[in-house]
Amino acid sequence: MQTKPPPINLKPFFLALDDIVEEYDGKLDWPTLFGNDNPVEIDVGCGRGLFLVNASEVHPERNFLGIEVDFREGRRGAARLKRRDLKNACVLGGDANIPFSKMIAPHSVNAIHVYFPDPWWKKKHRKRRVFNNTFVDLCSNLLVPGGYLHSWTDVEEYFGVISSLMEHHTDFETLPTPEERDAEHDMDYQTSYERKKRKLGLPIHRGRWVRKVE
Ligand SMILES: C[S@@+](CC[C@H](N)C(=O)[O-])C[C@H]1O[C@@H](n2cnc3c(N)ncnc32)[C@H](O)[C@@H]1O
Repeated sequence: MQTKPPPINLKPFFLALDDIVEEYDGKLDWPTLFGNDNPVEIDVGCGRGLFLVNASEVHPERNFLGIEVDFREGRRGAARLKRRDLKNACVLGGDANIPFSKMIAPHSVNAIHVYFPDPWWKKKHRKRRVFNNTFVDLCSNLLVPGGYLHSWTDVEEYFGVISSLMEHHTDFETLPTPEERDAEHDMDYQTSYERKKRKLGLPIHRGRWVRKVE
């Protein structure tokens, strides 16, 4: 009988939530994880990591953590980071709600990015959406005052929900809509989904909010 080869070890570019529990005492301590005190940005649902690769290459003075519940996708992103030896970025495999609620120190994150979150079209599945009141509260708790939350999607209805949640949250202020930029090459998109949707000619809704200073 043929057996599957064991998956390639992608550490430290890919870590599972279990690794954080076993090796880091259940805490995402940024200087321990990245080996420096640079600002940290999180990409929730990073997919195959185009944003992480581009952003960590352009900003070596920042650290980037992608969180991806689909290990196959997350490992693809981590493999891209490993090939380019981008040590200021890594992928955490697991549901973002877990690290957001118990593994990250309050007010220790400079930006949170949520690009093209799964729309869960059917009404009975809507509760699976990542963006809800609790998630926005968690983001408010994690962001430094003056930190940013970015979210883009091609799903107009979901963008309406996201905008409404953000506008009604007293800790956030809405910033002007980021403008669309022409891609200079085939990988010059914010994420793989932005690339896919723009190539289909779909309009993209872009939002940016700032965590108020108390
Ligand atoms: C539509 S894809 C978008 C991927 C990427 N952000 C992009 O724009 O190309 C949504 C991604 O979010 C991931 N995801 C959904 N819920 C999540 C959660 N609670 N925690 C972490 N990842 C999640 C999915 O597995 C999927 O890879």
